[in-house]
Amino acid sequence: MKRALIPGTFDPITEGHLDVISRATQLVDEVVVGVAASPNKKPLFASEERVALAQEATRHLKNVRVLSFNCLLVDFATQIEAQILIKGLRAITDFEYEFQMTALNYQLNKAIETLFIMSPPQYMYLSSSIVREIASLRGDVDRFVPSCVGAALKAKFAEA
Ligand code: COA
Repeated sequence: MKRALIPGTFDPITEGHLDVISRATQLVDEVVVGVAASPNKKPLFASEERVALAQEATRHLKNVRVLSFNCLLVDFATQIEAQILIKGLRAITDFEYEFQMTALNYQLNKAIETLFIMSPPQYMYLSSSIVREIASLRGDVDRFVPSCVGAALKAKFAEA
């Protein structure tokens, strides 16, 4: 059973993340989307909200599970018996950070392999913070996020 973990803060999940997740489902038996608590990022959506949105957005993918975690990534991977970490790589700017993370994760646990999936051009510029910023200024984010996320962003900023 090959199980891959796709980690991130997913604040919120975007079409770019979904592209990586759906492509990963073709490569392994099961994909676990790991929603990191990431308190240092001061997320807009609570951990439970980010998990619920990721669950809704991946409902059509049969071999995907969404779980939250608040520990070292490699420890979480071990706990759920994932042998592979999959990360999205958008542009050259991602490379140095991902290179550091991968090197450190490898030092922490050599049994876990990291693989990268390149983003297609239409998602290369996308990030959760850009989506949050557009939504906060009442811009249209529908082409960047699944419909459940678009609705959640509208509701969140209507509260503000
Ligand atoms: N499509 C769209 N956006 C993407 C993307 C893609 N394919 N790939 C990355 N992004 C975005 C993310 O949404 C994020 O946007 P934001 O900064 O606006 O929120 C940004 O690019 C950076 O992504 P990433 O590097 O994956 O950061 P993250 O916050 O989503 O996740 C963790 C980082 C959770 C994987 C990392 O902090 C971690 O492993 N934490 C656990 C603790 C730990 O083990 N730390 C030590 C590691 S050595």
